[in-house]
Amino acid sequence: MIAVDQVCFRANALPEPWTLATYESLGGYQIWKKILKENTAPELIVEQIKASFLRGRGGAGFPTGLKWSFISRSMPGQKYVVCNSDEGEPGTCKDRDILRYNPHQLIEGMAIAGYVMGATVGYNYIRGEFNEPIDRFVEALEEAYAAGFLGKDILKSKVDFDLYHHIGAGAYICGEETALLESLEGKRGNPRFKPPFPASYGLYGCPTTINNTETFASVPVILEKGAQWFLEQGKPKNGGTKIFCVSGHVNRPGNFEVPLGLPFKDLLEMAGGVRNGHALKAVIPGGSSAPILPAAVMMKLDMDFDSLAQAGSMLGSGAVIIMDETACMVKVLARIAHFYFEESCGQCTPCREGTGWMSRILHRILHGQGRMEHLNLLDNVAENIMGRTICALGDAAAMPVRSFIQHFRPEFEHHITTGQCDLGGAHHD
Ligand SMILES: Cc1cc2nc3c(=O)[nH]c(=O)nc-3n(C[C@H](O)[C@H](O)[C@H](O)COP(=O)(O)O)c2cc1C
Repeated sequence: MIAVDQVCFRANALPEPWTLATYESLGGYQIWKKILKENTAPELIVEQIKASFLRGRGGAGFPTGLKWSFISRSMPGQKYVVCNSDEGEPGTCKDRDILRYNPHQLIEGMAIAGYVMGATVGYNYIRGEFNEPIDRFVEALEEAYAAGFLGKDILKSKVDFDLYHHIGAGAYICGEETALLESLEGKRGNPRFKPPFPASYGLYGCPTTINNTETFASVPVILEKGAQWFLEQGKPKNGGTKIFCVSGHVNRPGNFEVPLGLPFKDLLEMAGGVRNGHALKAVIPGGSSAPILPAAVMMKLDMDFDSLAQAGSMLGSGAVIIMDETACMVKVLARIAHFYFEESCGQCTPCREGTGWMSRILHRILHGQGRMEHLNLLDNVAENIMGRTICALGDAAAMPVRSFIQHFRPEFEHHITTGQCDLGGAHHD
């Protein structure tokens, strides 16, 4: 039996899980109270997070304990804690459910982060379309303030932490951490050059720690149940549970919080298997920017950061997009490429021009106007974007193109030579 819903979703099955009363019935805010009462050394908290092997849930899997160690309480001046609830990566739908069902755990995690770094102000940047999740988070903030868990001199500890929400305006690029900071400052969401990284030059030029919603929300449970417990939920160097957002051609799509390192085939089974008895063709295991993998590879893989990286893809945000044999790889890739073309901020020439170029070529192949040399051209354009842009949106656009052609080249060639879809259809609409 797989242990599920142990960390971020631990309240979900309870009535009105989003309320302070329910959260407190699970032991919520006990860790926060203990830290304030005992004046816990921040280094001890960072050590626990490091030992738990919590890795960032926003996409890159950067070790959270290490990130938290970059800013210390003793550093003078204003510092900030920022949560990334922008959740723009196609296929990802977990952070909204944390906001919807367990907002207090996120608030507690952010307050602890503020304490560790000596940041007295935090912001949660939330995707603008998330009406219900925004309402739930705001209600939870009000409850937390009323209970005295946020604000000035919290529970007479002399610790201050004010937390605000900020509603985004719907650009994918604003999920990139430095674009998010620009947007939070009221400017256009263009990514910044790095270095300097947010830990030294973040919000309003001050040291800032930015983490994903699921990352912050994992922290209270790590400190309550212990780093070792958390680590043991997953695999070595891949601590904890992870919410996988399973979408596409499955019988029971949804969010599943399961141990990191769960075999993919078990996750697929939890999602009810491939729809209507169809055969699995391919999987995008970590959101639309993660390289696609064929069924035969996926069925042998475990769902953790290292296993997916070794197989040439990535765990990313945990968005697992399942495709059965009816999915046309040319059509899927053309759709993805169009998304990145639309969402490129346009600052860097390789990304601004390359995403449009790739999208137009794929549109031509899809509509029966492709030429064989287009395949090498696509690969060449993608190669020239990778690593040559300010932020990783360029890589995110290039990786799908290269991996789709690598694994499904005959399907692209068939479209080009026959002007038809391999799956029996005429030119696509
Ligand atoms: C184009 C782009 C979009 C991104 N969108 C998101 C997002 O919606 N949510 C998120 O948490 N991280 C997103 N990221 C990753 C963030 O830049 C950052 O790495 C993350 O918020 C750090 O948190 P973590 O260490 O907890 O994962 C995006 C990155 C890029 C390049």
